[in-house]
Amino acid sequence: MLFHKSVRATSALFGFLFLLVTAAQAQTAKLPNVTILATGGTIAGTGATSTTTVGYTAATVGVQALIQAVPEMTKVANVTGEQVFQIASENMGNEHWLQLAKRVNVLLGQPNVDGIVITHGTDTLEETAYFLNLVVKSRKPVVLVGSMRPSTALSADGPINLYNAVNLAGSPAAVGKGVLVAMNDQIHAARDVTKANTTTADTFRAAELGMIGYIQGGKPYFYREVTRKHTVETEFDISRLDALPQVDVAYAYANVGAVAVNALVAAGAKGLVHAGVGNGSLPARTKPALVAAREKGVVIVRSSRVGQGIVARNGEANDDQLDFVVADTLSPQKARILLMLALTKTSNTKEIQRMFYTY
Ligand code: DGL
Repeated sequence: MLFHKSVRATSALFGFLFLLVTAAQAQTAKLPNVTILATGGTIAGTGATSTTTVGYTAATVGVQALIQAVPEMTKVANVTGEQVFQIASENMGNEHWLQLAKRVNVLLGQPNVDGIVITHGTDTLEETAYFLNLVVKSRKPVVLVGSMRPSTALSADGPINLYNAVNLAGSPAAVGKGVLVAMNDQIHAARDVTKANTTTADTFRAAELGMIGYIQGGKPYFYREVTRKHTVETEFDISRLDALPQVDVAYAYANVGAVAVNALVAAGAKGLVHAGVGNGSLPARTKPALVAAREKGVVIVRSSRVGQGIVARNGEANDDQLDFVVADTLSPQKARILLMLALTKTSNTKEIQRMFYTY
C-alpha cells in the first residue's frame, strides 16, 4: 500500500516538473533571440569609487559580466554575448568597423538571431552607428548602446541603457528602422544623432532633426520615420573589403592656413572632408590647397563645423567649377564615413554627390 502511494507521489512530482519545464521552454521559445556584441567603452568601465564619474578606466568589464549585471534581461529576451574587442572608443579604427560589420552581417543572416545590441564607448558611437547604417544587410534591429557613467558609479546608466537596448533589439517595431542608438530612454536614428555633451547622461541629441522615439517601461514608442536610405537599401558592400580608403577631416577656424590640408594629402588621403565655418565656407588661405588636392584626384567634400543645417551646393563656393561635393547635413565625422564608402564604388564626384543626397 505504502509502495503504491510513493509511486503515485513520485509520478505526480515528475508530472509537475515536466509541466514546469515545458512551460519554461514555451516561454523561452516566445522570447526574441538577441546577441550582444561588446566592444568596450564606459559601459564596460570601472572607477576607483562609487562617485568616480570622470577619470575612470573604460573597457575593463567583459560581456558576460555586463549580462550578469542585468538579470532582468532574461525575462525579455534570450540573450547571448560575444566580446568582439575591448577598447575605449576614441581608439576605434576602420579595421574595427570592418570586423564588427562582418560579424553583424553573419549573425543577422542566421534565422535564430532576431536582433543585435552593440555595447560601445560613447565618444565615437555615432560614427560606428552611421557606418553600420550603410553596410548592414538586414532589416533586423541593430542597436548601439553605451553609458556616460562607469558600471561602478552611483546611478550608473549602463544597466538600464542595456536593458532598454535589448528590449528594442528584440522588438518587431524596430525592424526596418535602420541602425538605432538607445540611450537615456531615447531612440535615435544613426544618421542624425551626435554626442552633444562631454559628460552628462542626456548627451546624445539630434538637435534639429530630432530623435525618433522613446523607450518607456522597456517598450519602444516610435514617432518618426527616417527618410534617407539605410541597411538593405544601400549600394555599399564591405563583405570582401579588408581596408577602407584613407579619408581625413581638416577643421576650419580663424587664422587657419593650408598646413593641415597639405599634410593630409601628402600622407595619402584619397578624400578630404573640409569642416568649414558657417555654411561650409572656405578660408582664402586654405582654398588653394583644396584646389590643388582636387587636381591631384583627391575628392573634396565641403561640410561644416556648425553642427546643424544644410551645406548648400554652390553657396559659399562654386562647387560646380571646383568639382567639389557638399555634405548636405552630415557632420564632418559622418561625411568622412560616407565618402570612404563612396570611394569603394567610384571617384566620380557627380555620383558621390548623389550618394550624399541619398544616405
Ligand atoms: N573613452 C570613452 C569611450 O570609450 C569613454 C566615454 C564613454 O564610453 O562614455 O568612448
